[in-house]
Amino acid sequence: EWNMHDFCQKQIDIIMNKMGEKYVVGAVSGGVDSSVAAALVHKAIGDRFRPFMVDTGLLRKDEAKIVKERLEKHIPGMKLKVLDESAHFYKELAGVSEPEKKRKIIGRLFVEAFEKAVSEMGLPHEKCLLLQGTLYPDVIESTSYKGPSSIIKTHHNVGGLPDRMKMEVIEPLRLLFKDEVRALGNELGLPVTSVMRHPFPGPGLGIRIIGEVTKESAETLSAADDIYIEELRKAGHYDKIGQAFAVLLPTVRSVGVMGDHRTYENVCVLRAVTTTDFMTADWYDMPHDVLARISNRIINEVKGINRVCYDVSSKPPATIEWE
Ligand code: XMP
Repeated sequence: EWNMHDFCQKQIDIIMNKMGEKYVVGAVSGGVDSSVAAALVHKAIGDRFRPFMVDTGLLRKDEAKIVKERLEKHIPGMKLKVLDESAHFYKELAGVSEPEKKRKIIGRLFVEAFEKAVSEMGLPHEKCLLLQGTLYPDVIESTSYKGPSSIIKTHHNVGGLPDRMKMEVIEPLRLLFKDEVRALGNELGLPVTSVMRHPFPGPGLGIRIIGEVTKESAETLSAADDIYIEELRKAGHYDKIGQAFAVLLPTVRSVGVMGDHRTYENVCVLRAVTTTDFMTADWYDMPHDVLARISNRIINEVKGINRVCYDVSSKPPATIEWE
């Protein structure tokens, strides 16, 4: 008879046995897998687990702050260190508009930030294990995030660490499917806002700002996206959707009227899909009143956006993300 409580205890024993005097370091994104992995390892070894989060400037609105508060509240005793690398990311992304180039830059900067975080902890590499939130589907596909679309897009995770960073890896979720990870998160006391989140890609808003990424465009998009997600939650649609997010088209400007003057501003696209495995997806049949409310709020509250569109493309042939 298999249950999550026993699984949890068993994994904690395994981690403690494997550990000796070692430390565990790990990047937490605030997503389901890294949050559950963090809660589990913290439960096993307490402050010998050193989690950190990289604020790339391409996260959801106030995400680093919110994730830090949420995890520290629900994983008592755990301290999440946040590295604000946003200025560096914006600087390196200036002038770059090609999606694959943006992905490569973001991936490289992430590895550099990772290295910096680990070296700031002052722990010798040979005494450290690296926590990864690898799930069973990643294991069978042999490399994480290899969907069919990875042939056409370079998906980035913390996979590609340079040789000087090579550490033994610990993957406590590698026997689990996503729904089991959520159940484990529940067992470990994480809130629904942590265990029932939509996935968020590593490159974040960097691949949802179509074209060059700037601090301004990231702020505009995160404001629109925040309104979108808030309204989906309020209307009870968030949990029926596999992934929902806003996309910004900063190179497209459309004419509008605001009061008695003409506006000439950017377009925001809303995307929402239902899916079982993210390999195929259908666009979500969103009720018109919900769309109307979201559109009104975004146009009225977000400076720089004067038009909102809804994406009605399925995957394939469209992908879920726009880049
Ligand atoms: P696509 O756009 O290929 O997305 O239909 C399928 C799923 O993968 C996510 N995605 C990524 N995740 N790094 C990630 O960690 C990436 O570069 C990346 N690109 C897409 C996407 O959000 C969706 O859940």
